[in-house]
Amino acid sequence: MSLTVTPFREDFGAEISGVDLSIPVLPAIKESLNALLARYAVLIFREQSLTPPQFMVAAEIFGELMDQQLKKYVLPDYPMVGCNSTDDLPRKNGKLQVRGENYHTDHSNERCPPKATTLHALQIPPTGGDTQFVDVRKAFDDLPESLKIKLRGLRSRHVHQSSRSPRELTKLSPDDLAKIPTALQPLVIRHPGNGRPALYLNTGRMEGIEDMDPDAGFALIENLYQHATDARYEYRHKWRSGDMVIWDNQAVMHQANADYDPEQKRFLYRLMVKGQALSPAEL
Ligand code: SIN
Repeated sequence: MSLTVTPFREDFGAEISGVDLSIPVLPAIKESLNALLARYAVLIFREQSLTPPQFMVAAEIFGELMDQQLKKYVLPDYPMVGCNSTDDLPRKNGKLQVRGENYHTDHSNERCPPKATTLHALQIPPTGGDTQFVDVRKAFDDLPESLKIKLRGLRSRHVHQSSRSPRELTKLSPDDLAKIPTALQPLVIRHPGNGRPALYLNTGRMEGIEDMDPDAGFALIENLYQHATDARYEYRHKWRSGDMVIWDNQAVMHQANADYDPEQKRFLYRLMVKGQALSPAEL
């Protein structure tokens, strides 16, 4: 196998060809793919056709698999494998209520959030249903130096659903909610793989800023979120069935789109790769 890498930007997003993920890859390819993920943050593999066990082996190239938090959306025979399916989505006034419909990073309320998340598309509507990604490393780099200094040492408590969340997250029973962790996370993290600083934002889960007046804390989060979700930091993935896309949760935020015909099925497998506790960037 010889990898061909087609970057979308200098160091954000790349399509990788020349690899068949239905069979285990050699150690040298594994090392290259990990280096590519650390650099480009979103990797696209087209024309893969993976069974759930093959998808698990492909995701394991990037680390140990992490349990799905929402057990009701997993494959019964392969509980590590989640599924994003139109069939599971509620509708309001005819519109699908998709999970992940504003920019976020996965499970930031965990002390050790997933390093990466991957989706493998089995069925895709003819139009719509793209996934958008923004590069929160570049968004941080572009902030004025005076603001970077102000962010030094700031942390936010990430909970299941913030009191000011812009969207309603999956409803949990009181028992399930009690089991969901919360975590105090740096506002600017040091990427565990390559040391790059990155904004760490999730407006659905952030409960203000530690030791800051709530309104001021939420206003700062909103300003940073508006900046980081600007179109200049975006890669928008138009799915084809057979795509496997993996992204680095410590380098990008992502969002789903509910803009497709609810009668058209969209079905993807989902896996997460375990991460480690996050450290603050040295600013
Ligand atoms: C998500 O993980 O937020 C869902 C992405 C998608 O289905 O497009």
